[in-house]
Amino acid sequence: MKYVEYEGMTFEPYIFRDTIDARIKELGKEITRDCAGKSPLFICVLNGAFPFASDLFRACEGINAEITFIRLKSYEGTGTTGTVKEVMALQEDIKGRTVIIVEDIVDTGHTIKQLIDRLVVKEPAEIKVATLLFKPEALVEDVNPDYVGFSIPKKFIIGFGLDLNEKARDLNDIYILKEN
Ligand code: HPA
Ligand code: MG
Repeated sequence: MKYVEYEGMTFEPYIFRDTIDARIKELGKEITRDCAGKSPLFICVLNGAFPFASDLFRACEGINAEITFIRLKSYEGTGTTGTVKEVMALQEDIKGRTVIIVEDIVDTGHTIKQLIDRLVVKEPAEIKVATLLFKPEALVEDVNPDYVGFSIPKKFIIGFGLDLNEKARDLNDIYILKEN
């Protein structure tokens, strides 16, 4: 087993790259089917969602989709602060459009809820949420992601875009905090 260490914590492999790739292709097919003719705008939530968004966007080839980026910050270390700061704002006019928010993870739901609230006032036709990972047991907000890669337990994970204090995003597989 290939463990990795960050800040004195040990993480073990949890979801392998092949499995992630296959699942993203499936999600791409679902979105392609649901959004054909809608020319959706993907909004990739930086920093964590960039590897997922890159793969998911290309798995939706042929629906004339566009992609843009927004940068939010809400999470410190392994705990949540609950407040979301928009460090890089959305430039596009989304009025009347189908918008697909692309997230790395929906945990408590605070981030996604605040983002949805900010987008709703811009009057898009619809807002869908695609997340690579979802922790249903951690959810406290009333949000329900439309496209979920993997539902996972309430444990800390890293890799494939997910960080521990900005490190570990480069890991190709997803790792979970090891319990001793
Ligand atoms: N890992 C990394 N970032 C996160 C997590 C997690 O488990 N949950 C919310 N942000
Ligand atoms: Mg993070």
